[in-house]
Formats: sequence, structure tokens, C-alpha cells
Amino acid sequence: MAFNIAVLKETRANERRVALVPVVADKLTKLGAKLALQSGAGDAVKLPDSAFKNVHCAANPQGLVSDADIVLAVQPPSVEAVEAMKEGSVLISFIYAHKEIELVKKLRDKKITCFAMELVPRITRAQAMDALSSQAALAGYYGALLGATSIARMMPMTTFATGSIRPGTVLVMGVGVAGLSAIATARRIGAKVEGYDVRPEVKEQVESLGAKFIDTGVDARGEGGYARELTAEEKDKIAAVVTKHIQAADIIITTAAIPGRPSPKLISKAQIDGMKGGSVIVDLAAEGGGNTEYTQPGETVVVGQTTIVAPLNVPSLLGEHASELYAKNQFNLVELMIKDGALAIDWEDEVLAKACLTHDGEIKNEAAAKAVEAA
Ligand code: NAI
Repeated sequence: MAFNIAVLKETRANERRVALVPVVADKLTKLGAKLALQSGAGDAVKLPDSAFKNVHCAANPQGLVSDADIVLAVQPPSVEAVEAMKEGSVLISFIYAHKEIELVKKLRDKKITCFAMELVPRITRAQAMDALSSQAALAGYYGALLGATSIARMMPMTTFATGSIRPGTVLVMGVGVAGLSAIATARRIGAKVEGYDVRPEVKEQVESLGAKFIDTGVDARGEGGYARELTAEEKDKIAAVVTKHIQAADIIITTAAIPGRPSPKLISKAQIDGMKGGSVIVDLAAEGGGNTEYTQPGETVVVGQTTIVAPLNVPSLLGEHASELYAKNQFNLVELMIKDGALAIDWEDEVLAKACLTHDGEIKNEAAAKAVEAA
């Protein structure tokens, strides 16, 4: 028995990643898949069609998906591509349903079984399928280096014939996966690092990386290991503690997010206005509007003496490794739904059940169903 997998070329702005790399193509072939790739899908990450062995390459996405049992992509595909898919076939990609209402309706109406990568549960067993984590880890690394190359100062303590330079101070605000990766990277380049989060349980993780945890006394743990929104009182309590750290930092890296909500504003205009001359903020939450009141998503702005860098789609800037990790995450998910060389989805499997966005004409995810209803 065999099954067909089609991989789409990404078309959205700033997207360089591809959902298939040659090493994963080989593993999927061994699993029983016949692979088709949209021509040029890997070009942006230096993977020409010729790099993929035993993979059929074709230009027309509609023709490609109409034959597929499983379609793989990074970003949500176009409504037209979904329209061309076979009824009952599987789509695996990031979707972010609340921003893609028309697409979700199309997935439902075409009876597509869609697994949204952002819905893969954050449990130990699903770590190898967790693309939010793999991509965030890359973003954190990149953010720390971007900070270091955007400031006109060195980070490590260094001794010259003329005397010593003191180490730079990096403050990481929001210490989830990206924040921890930013801390580790900033430590590696010799900075003195501080971390702050509204989930106090990260203190130990911050300290284990050799950084100092800033304790504000606020505990804003929400559902599923994520943070919740803060009350006005909590914000004041936090500001009273963190302002002096913000204003003493050379580089600040912000990564704070609340699922399904705009990025929380962690740094006010007044706090930025009081920052040290020449300091830099790298806002890794620009996709959701940014963590500072001055952030312009996708732009670099200079306010007074402070530079605020807010790149979009940061994992894509490390597109080669981002594609490799993402493709491996997807392979591990696909492997769960194949039995004896054929598609066989076990709905008792917690990972598949929770990652499912639409199936058999229904929207399975509660938050997505509400978003579609409200639209
Ligand atoms: P995220 O991208 O949703 O948010 C980033 C960070 O921002 C979080 O640490 C959050 O607490 C923080 N944040 C939100 N509002 C803030 C505010 N106002 N001020 C300061 N910080 C704020 O988080 P991410 O990286 O996706 O991780 C989410 C959770 O999932 C974490 O608890 C993480 O440990 C957990 N996780 C568990 C895995 C597992 O397999 N067990 C794998 C990956 C993540």
C-alpha cells in the first residue's frame, strides 16, 4: 500500500522555509509515501528540486494537491489550494484559525482533516512534533545575535592594552522557549544576562543557564502552561521592579506572548524614554503587534537614543535549519497516522485529537469554532 504526499511552495511575504528537506523525504519514502513537491519550493533555502531524490516535482499546486492523501506546508495554504484538495484528505501546516476564518470554513466544507501545527499539545510525548518550540528556539538564538550586532558595543568582558571593557547587560523579557534560547545565546557571547517572566516557575530554568531571575512577586500562570493577561495593579507592581532593569540594560530581548491575543505591552514609552543611550531592543513578538509601545512590526525605529528592531517571521531568517527542524516535526506527526503503509488515524491518540482543527465537515477545536461563529 502507498499513500501520496504533496508539499506546497510557500507564497507568503517573508517566508523562506519549506516543509520538506531531502533527509525527511527519504524517511517518508521508507514509510510508504509517494512524494510530490511544488517546483522551486526549496529554492529559498538552497534546496533545488534536484536535491530531492524520488520526489516528483511539478509547477501547478492545484494539480499537485488534487492527487494527495496528505498535503504538507509551513504557512496556511491558499483557499484555492484547499479547494483543489480531495475530500477527506489531510492537511498539516500552521493555520492560526482566528486569523484565517475563510480558510477554516473551506477546510470544514471540503471535509479536510486538518492538523494545525500550533495546536500540537505541549506535552512530553509530543516534543518531537512541536514546531512552535523548534521554531521559537531558533528565533531566540537569532534575536540575541541580532541584538549584539545592532549595538555599537561588545558583549564579553575583554581586556585590551588600554584597559578592560565591562560585559554588556542583556535583559530577556518573556522566558518561554524563545527566551531561554536567547538567554543561552547571550551567555555564550559573554553578556551578563537577566530574565523576567510572569510565570515564576521559570526562575530555576533562568538560573540554570547562568542568568539572574528578576522576581516581581507577580504570578500570572494561565491555562496549559501559558501566561494570562495582567490586571492593571499587577502591571504597576511589575513596573516598580523592572523599570530599573530596563533602564540599565544594553540590550533587551522581548518574546512575550499570550495565545490568541495581541502581544502584551511589556515596555512603555516612558520606560524606553529613560533607557541608557545607545541601547537596543529586539522585539521578537512583532508578529502579534510587539512587546513595546514604540514597536513598528517589521521595522527598525530609533527613539531618542534607543533602537527598536522588530523583525517578522524570525525563524524564516534561519530558513535552512528552520526547514529541517520543521520537516522533522511534521514527519513525526505523519508517522503517528500511518499504519502498514496507509493512512489510519487513531482518534484515541491525544496528540492527533488535540492537534485536529477540522475533520469530516466539523471544526474540532473549540476556540476556532467560536472564532468562526463570531466572524
Ligand atoms: P509563549 O510564546 O506563549 O510566550 C513566551 C513567554 O512570554 C512565556 O514564558 C510567557 O509566560 C511570557 N509572558 C506572557 N506575558 C508576559 C508578560 N506580561 N510579562 C512577561 N512575560 C510574559 O510561550 P512558549 O515559549 O510557547 O511556552 C509556553 C509554555 O509551554 C511554557 O510553559 C513552556 O514551558 C511550555 N512548553 C512545554 C513543552 C513540553 O513539552 N512540556 C514544550 C514547549 C513548551
